Amino acid sequence: MKAQTAQRRMIPMLDLRLEYERMKEDVDRAITRCLDHQRWIFGPEVRELEEKAGAYLGAAHCVGTSSGTEALVLALRALAIKSGREYFDREDMIITTPFTFTATGDAILRSGATPVFIDIDPATYNLDAAVLKRYLESGAGRPVGIVPVHLYGCPCDMKEIMELARRFKLFVVEDVAQAFGGVFGGRRLGSIGDAGAFSFFPSKNLGGFGDGGMLATGDAGLDSIVRMLIKHGGRDKYNVEHVGYNARLDTLQAAVVLSKLGHIEELNAGRRAVAGIYSEALSGMQEIVLPAAPSEGLHVYNQYTIRVRGVLPDGRRTGLRNGARDDLQDHLRQRGVDTMVYYPVPLHKMKVFHGRCAGPYSLGESEQAVKEVLSLPIEPFMPEEDVRHVAGLVREFFAS
Ligand SMILES: Cc1ncc(COP(=O)(O)O)c(C=O)c1O
Repeated sequence: MKAQTAQRRMIPMLDLRLEYERMKEDVDRAITRCLDHQRWIFGPEVRELEEKAGAYLGAAHCVGTSSGTEALVLALRALAIKSGREYFDREDMIITTPFTFTATGDAILRSGATPVFIDIDPATYNLDAAVLKRYLESGAGRPVGIVPVHLYGCPCDMKEIMELARRFKLFVVEDVAQAFGGVFGGRRLGSIGDAGAFSFFPSKNLGGFGDGGMLATGDAGLDSIVRMLIKHGGRDKYNVEHVGYNARLDTLQAAVVLSKLGHIEELNAGRRAVAGIYSEALSGMQEIVLPAAPSEGLHVYNQYTIRVRGVLPDGRRTGLRNGARDDLQDHLRQRGVDTMVYYPVPLHKMKVFHGRCAGPYSLGESEQAVKEVLSLPIEPFMPEEDVRHVAGLVREFFAS
């Protein structure tokens, strides 16, 4: 009877109460402060967060935004404006990965440019710098920029990407939605390219209590354009210069994120510890591939994503229906464990990008990854016994 209860333990993908309980005092105090001053738009917490995040990231300027998606759009629009036009043209090509959240590609469309999808490195799931190099050297199209995505919290090869960007005179906007605090080459992600776009969506490793985001940049010109764009495109309400947005980070979200920012090292260390337990408990299984350590820098494990091999190295199939990944997901679900597939559809297969992206280029690695990846529950304060329980169920599936 006891064993049955243990088997039925429910483990959600994410239980945000664990994090809140640890930080309750700081978070509640920050919210109470807002209730006291009642400055909901551009309250003092917004500036304080921008300054503290900038200092932490090593970015001269940070601007709070209403979401990570808007931070990407704002970065791209500001780059277009800096180059002398309101929007990019359709002939302007911005390179990114198709193995990401829709927002990355959608932001490129909204900036007026055309996305070019380049395949991923199957080990890190990030833009493959070697494929990027081949594309750029082919001289195809008119590339103007690159949007690398540090997927799952794993840093992209920023050395290679920045070298190519310099050589081909391209801007770089890092999509850091999943990687606050990650590092490459001794620098925080989001502070390496021309700009970095962060998300404070609640499930992110630095999350608020609703939507929110931030743009980081070392470029004072971009900073001042973005500060106009977030409030309708003008220096003030009645001197509007650009087609802008209402895309401010609100005071309450800034206060929550600010109170958590003080714990970011602990939060990321907690995630890395959980990832370490998973990797140890799942080691040696030929049916699955564990997350690769980045070639350089620090992974922050916004997700812990394994890859289920449909076919073993010796040619045997591991699963029965719809590939082994879906069967494993069902097996876990039936035993009370939630998992997620990030992402089941590559961007180039989505209707919104049909006829709106450049190519076709070979995107076989991305198309394979969508069938095989599975993200397991992870959060900084996940009890070790839960992590081991999930890993045990994964082992059980392949042993049966
Ligand atoms: C890789 C990536 N880019 C962009 C975004 C967009 O962020 P937001 O949800 O804050 O708009 C997300 C998160 O949802 C993401 O995971």
